[in-house]
Amino acid sequence: VARQELGSLRGIPLYQCFVQGWPQVEAFRARPDDLLVATYPKSGTTWLSEILDLIYHDGDVEKCRRDAIFNRVPFLEMKAPKMPSGVELLEKTPSPRLVKTHLPVHLLPASFQDNGCKVIYMARNPKDVVISYYYFYQMAKMHPDPGTLGEFLETFLAGKVAYGSWYEHVQGWWEKKQEKQLLYLFYEDMKKDPWQEVQKILRFLGKEMEEEVVARILHHTSFQEMKKNPAANYETIPRALMDHSLSPFLRKGISGDWKNHFTVAQNERFDQHYREHMVGSDLRFQMEV
Ligand code: A3P
Repeated sequence: VARQELGSLRGIPLYQCFVQGWPQVEAFRARPDDLLVATYPKSGTTWLSEILDLIYHDGDVEKCRRDAIFNRVPFLEMKAPKMPSGVELLEKTPSPRLVKTHLPVHLLPASFQDNGCKVIYMARNPKDVVISYYYFYQMAKMHPDPGTLGEFLETFLAGKVAYGSWYEHVQGWWEKKQEKQLLYLFYEDMKKDPWQEVQKILRFLGKEMEEEVVARILHHTSFQEMKKNPAANYETIPRALMDHSLSPFLRKGISGDWKNHFTVAQNERFDQHYREHMVGSDLRFQMEV
């Protein structure tokens, strides 16, 4: 697969294929009991989806695998040649459905709001996001060439990566937090205390679960377990699309890896940009964990 330049959807950089499939996404008919899992890329989407999928299956790993249609949690805006689109997969999925998306809040199909669907958003500190994204750009060939890390940092800060500005994404969804239907989580909290975060999710879903089942879910969704699970680690995707020899999809799964990559100057530049673009927001990120 040749590397492609990104297309654009209402000013947001996006893969050409997804842009072509947009009319189908925009017309998507959400159901009132759909649960939307929303994230900016590289913020723990796969991890959170796996946790929710297992919660929906009461921790029954085998049943969860049997029920899976194509991929575990359908990706709303997914569109690729010779594959069913995310919307087509979702139409075949029985309720209650989990729906995964990276869309910024203003591009979300109206039907989710109209049906009062619950949303769980997960955000991750931008320094770790940009490092994770840099490796993802290298291994996942639908992205343009990322260049050097220094170049990619500038592309990221300018919002010229797939799905656009990280700031606008995390802040846009944060503004929706006033609405009771949205639970806003952080990757760093999930790393520090997954038990507590799963309890938050269960309360939000109005679901009770025995401690033993929660423990089983946490075991199966630990980084080590997911890394060796072909249903979760993306290794079944053709090598032409994702080359795990360049970087595994489940790469490190830690907080603070940016410290192994940023130079002092890059860090200062990033901090300055961050301060300027987070002015007036009460959204806080843990970079030093
Ligand atoms: P790293 O590249 O920093 O390792 P997404 O699913 O949104 O694309 O996010 C991918 C990031 O989440 C990767 O980060 C990946 O390793 C991390 N991740 C996936 N599963 C995880 C888990 N069970 N625990 C911690 N991190 C996980």
